Amino acid sequence: MTDAAPQPASSPPTAAEQVGVSQVLARPRTPEQLVRPNVVRFNQVTKTYNAGRPNAYTAIKDVTFVVEDLVDKGEFICVLGPSGCGKSTILRLIAGLEPQHPPTSGDVRVFGRPVTQPGADRGMVFQDYTSFDHRTVLENVTFGLECQGMPRRRRYDLGREWIRRVGLDVAADASKYPHELSGGMRQRVAIARTLILKPRIILMDEPFGALDPMTRMNMQDLLVALWREVQATVFFVTHSIEEAVFLGDRVYVMSNSPGTILRELVVEPADRSSKEMQKEAKFQETVYYIRDLISQLEEGRD
Ligand SMILES: Nc1ncnc2c1ncn2[C@@H]1O[C@H](COP(=O)(O)OP(=O)(O)OP(=O)(O)O)[C@@H](O)[C@H]1O
Ligand SMILES: [Mg+2]
Repeated sequence: MTDAAPQPASSPPTAAEQVGVSQVLARPRTPEQLVRPNVVRFNQVTKTYNAGRPNAYTAIKDVTFVVEDLVDKGEFICVLGPSGCGKSTILRLIAGLEPQHPPTSGDVRVFGRPVTQPGADRGMVFQDYTSFDHRTVLENVTFGLECQGMPRRRRYDLGREWIRRVGLDVAADASKYPHELSGGMRQRVAIARTLILKPRIILMDEPFGALDPMTRMNMQDLLVALWREVQATVFFVTHSIEEAVFLGDRVYVMSNSPGTILRELVVEPADRSSKEMQKEAKFQETVYYIRDLISQLEEGRD
């Protein structure tokens, strides 16, 4: 979580404008501004798909940002922007997944080291339900531990604990198969399956995009509670401005064609429920500010 102060102690002061529950930085922070160790660092990262071919397409260009390593805390970073602006590209570059990885140019670092491949320090939750159909909830949740070679009894004990933590009922749900679950329940399974492995960085690509508004708010509250426990850095991609402002300690607003980070906002921590926070005028002020920013971007493109 972020302090109320506009800038962390290690940054030189950057002019910031207060808007509702957020401070809008004059420009996104650059690696040179931060002296503390970094969790994730992008320096002038460009990704051109099909480079050198007639169908070459530059999805992101010169993307630079840095996320500090806040020990025993972790930050919640939300990435917002129009469809196709390169949000998933950024997330998958952090994960080290092809064909996004490697970047065409620039430097992607995690904990100070260049990303070369996926690793156990990074866990990913996708929008579509990615459970294995022929495995039960318990088998899905413990799949990663099985790959690590953890004995069955230990991993099932841990699995049951995580099933409980994400709000499922061990007795009723552990032996169900994915097709027997609702969308919200499946995303709980996906979250448990990722968090059980204790990644230092959690990458989430629109995980609640397919859920109804009520379920979505409940999932947001659950995620905030779990994130406080696991103290990881979270990268959370969403189309919902409300979701980004509620969940994020920081919000990156991206522009399109090719994608760059246009604004960085430092947002008040989510210390009340999603439903409560969304009723506040200050919260809505930040939401309207971002909405205007994105619609200006879209008009500018036409
Ligand atoms: N493997 C690929 N090959 C070619 N082009 C790609 C590939 N993956 C993505 N792109 C293009 O790069 C651009 C950015 O894609 P990306 O998936 O990162 O966008 P996004 O911001 O996540 O969009 P959405 O909000 O719709 O999920 C898009 O124009 C997309 O068509
Ligand atoms: Mg995407």
